Amino acid sequence: MVEAKMKIGDLGYPAEFLELFDGKNFDLYPHQEEAIRKFQEGNNVLVSVPTAAGKSLVAYSAIYETFRRGLRSIYIVPLKALAGEKYSELSRLEKIGIRVALSVGDYDTSPSFIKNYDVIVCTSEKADSLLHHDPSIADELGLVVADEIHLIGDEGRCPKLEMVLSTIKYVNPGIRIVALSATISNIEDVADWIGSSIVNSDFRPVPLKPGIIYRKKITYMNGEEEKLKGEDEVIDIVNSHLSRGGQTLVFVNSRKRSEEYARRISLAIDQNLIMKNIEFFPERGETDRYEETLKSMVQNGVSFHHAGLSGETRTRIEKGFKDGLLKALVATPTLAAGVNLPARVVVIRDLTRYSNGYSQFLPNMEIQQMLGRAGRPQYDSEGYAYLYAASKTSFDMANTYLSTDPEPVKSGMFQESLLRFNVLGLISMGIATSKEGIMDFFSSTFAGKT
Ligand SMILES: Nc1ncnc2c1ncn2[C@@H]1O[C@H](COP(=O)(O)OP(=O)(O)OP(=O)(O)O)[C@@H](O)[C@H]1O
Ligand SMILES: [Mg+2]
Repeated sequence: MVEAKMKIGDLGYPAEFLELFDGKNFDLYPHQEEAIRKFQEGNNVLVSVPTAAGKSLVAYSAIYETFRRGLRSIYIVPLKALAGEKYSELSRLEKIGIRVALSVGDYDTSPSFIKNYDVIVCTSEKADSLLHHDPSIADELGLVVADEIHLIGDEGRCPKLEMVLSTIKYVNPGIRIVALSATISNIEDVADWIGSSIVNSDFRPVPLKPGIIYRKKITYMNGEEEKLKGEDEVIDIVNSHLSRGGQTLVFVNSRKRSEEYARRISLAIDQNLIMKNIEFFPERGETDRYEETLKSMVQNGVSFHHAGLSGETRTRIEKGFKDGLLKALVATPTLAAGVNLPARVVVIRDLTRYSNGYSQFLPNMEIQQMLGRAGRPQYDSEGYAYLYAASKTSFDMANTYLSTDPEPVKSGMFQESLLRFNVLGLISMGIATSKEGIMDFFSSTFAGKT
C-alpha cells in the first residue's frame, strides 16, 4: 500500500497558514517534511535543495512554530526584490495575529520600532545596521532565517551576512537557525558553523532544460540542437517562446546594458503577441527619471530592471511581469536570487562582468541562481535555462558551468577593509572590547571555523 503523503494542512497550524500558498494545501515534498520535523525536534536546519524546491515553506513553518512559543523571528535575504516578495507573503499571517515588518534600508527603521513585530523581513545590510544601533535586539530573537546563505562569501552584494549571523549567534547562543540555499557544495562546513542538521536533496519540481546559445543555434546538454534565425538570437528566443505563451528573463552585466538591450527587444518583439494599451504608470505617478524611457517599451511588453530605478518603479515592473503584462524583462543581478517570477525562459546574456578593471567570468554559484529563476512551480511546468556564448572560450566556460557543481562557499570576512570595519563595529557595539574578546568572536565566525 502506498503511504498517504503529508499535506501542509496536516501540520496542525490554523487554516490561514495556507494563505501563504494561495490557499493550496500542497502535499509536502519529502525534503520539506524532513526539514520541518528536524526543526520541531529542536535542531537548527540547513536546507540544501535546488532552486524552486520550496525552501520558503520550511522557513514559514519555523516562523510559525517560533511565534507559537511567543518568540520573534528575523528573515534575512540578499535582495530588496526578495524582501518585498517574502514580506507580501508573510503579511498574510496578520489574520492570525502575527505582526510582520519590512525593513530594507530605504528609510531608517529603528530597533525600538522592530520590537513591535513578530517577524522582521530585511536585507543583510539592514540587519547589520539594526544590530549596530542596538545589538541587544539579537537577544529578543527566537529564530533567524538565513535565506541564500551561500552568499556569506560574496564580496559584492553580501559582505554583511557572515558578520550578522556571527553577531546574533554570539550575543544569543540559544538562537534557532534555519538556513536555506540551492547552491552550496561544501554543505558540511556551513552546517558545522551554524550547528545544524542537514537536509539535502536533488529534487527540482519543475525540470530545467539547459542549453548554450552559440553561433545561431542552441546546443542542449542532452545533445539536441535547435537552429535560431534573425539578427539577434535572444530576440528569436523571446518571440518563439512568446508564441507558446512563455515569458523570458534576460540577465546582463550592467544597468546601461539592461536599458539598451530591453530597448532592442522592445523594437523587435512580435507585435501580434503583446497586449495593447496597458495601464502601466498611473496618471500622476512618481517622477522616476527613467519613466519616459520605460513608457514606450512597456507598451511593447518589455522592461529593464536595475538598482538605479526607484523602489516603487521596480515593484511595479516586478508586478507587471508577474501579471503577464510584460513578456520580457532584462535585469541586472537585482533579480538573481530567490524571487518567484513567471519566467519560462532565462537567458544569461553576459557571462562576464567588469571587476577591478578586468572582465571576469561570473562565479558558477551566481550563474546557477540566475538560471534557477526559470521554471517556477506556481507558473510553469517546464523551464529553459540558456547561457549565451559570444566566443569559443565562452562556449567552453558555459559547458563547464552547466556540468560542474558551484564553487565551495568561502568566508569573505578577512578582506582587509572589511576586517577593520568589523573590528571597529564589535568595539562600538560593546560585543568585544579586548584583544582576547575580539579573537574569541572571530573564532566563532565561518572564517574562524574553516
Ligand atoms: N509542496 C509543494 N508543492 C507544490 N508547490 C510548492 C510546494 N512547496 C512550495 N511550493 C511552491 O513552489 C514555489 C517555489 O518555492 P520557493 O520560493 O520556496 O522556492 P525556493 O526553494 O526558495 O527557491 P530558490 O532557491 O530559488 O529561492 C512557490 O510558489 C511555492 O508556493
Ligand atoms: Mg528561496
